[in-house]
Amino acid sequence: MVVCVVCLGVAACGRNEAQGEPVGSAAVSGDDIAREQARFDTERRPEKVVEALAIGPGSRVADIGAGSGLITVHLARAVAPNGRVVATDIDGTVLDLLSQRLKSVGLDGVVDRRVVGAETPGLEDGTYDAILLAEVDHYFADPVAWMRSAALALKPGGRLVISNRIYHHAQTMAAARKAGLVLKTESTPVPTHFIAIFVAGDLKK
Ligand SMILES: C[S@@+](CC[C@H](N)C(=O)[O-])C[C@H]1O[C@@H](n2cnc3c(N)ncnc32)[C@H](O)[C@@H]1O
Repeated sequence: MVVCVVCLGVAACGRNEAQGEPVGSAAVSGDDIAREQARFDTERRPEKVVEALAIGPGSRVADIGAGSGLITVHLARAVAPNGRVVATDIDGTVLDLLSQRLKSVGLDGVVDRRVVGAETPGLEDGTYDAILLAEVDHYFADPVAWMRSAALALKPGGRLVISNRIYHHAQTMAAARKAGLVLKTESTPVPTHFIAIFVAGDLKK
């Protein structure tokens, strides 16, 4: 089992706590991947995130800061066979783990991996039915500017969903409000994490 001090439990970001280094794909067996996924699914209930995104076959969704793909795999399953997931991260090494995870369940054909800069979403305007930020917005140097930019990538009626640890809630909500996002609903499907669903407000303001 690979454990990360940031992810607290499972290596969602693909880092080895003991060494502080990204875990190379050669270090992870198929059994490790399956065990890690099972534990993550129990702890984080990613089906609730999929539900919040309101995606289905054919949807186009972006997974920001996808890490080793523990949630991406659920998004890929939801949009397959003809939808697309764009999985971004600032760290190309963790996206190698993501590719390995997706291959192990036959879903790699549904996902485009994309290494992005820390300051920008790196998404095309007006293209996405939904954008997911799971355990990532607290890393942004300027979360308000980042979220404003991400809102432009949504199709009309698209949703931006943020899930993070409860202790980031106030900071996340304040940034989203300043960015002009409109909160539709929120929930706490597990005691450690919230899920907030936003739509883009008037971006001309
Ligand atoms: C704690 S992990 C979360 C992984 C996954 N989203 C999850 O919830 O299981 C955070 C990930 O975000 C990435 N990250 C940090 N800053 C980022 C940024 N500005 N843009 C995209 N990814 C970023 C990190 O490299 C890391 O893989």
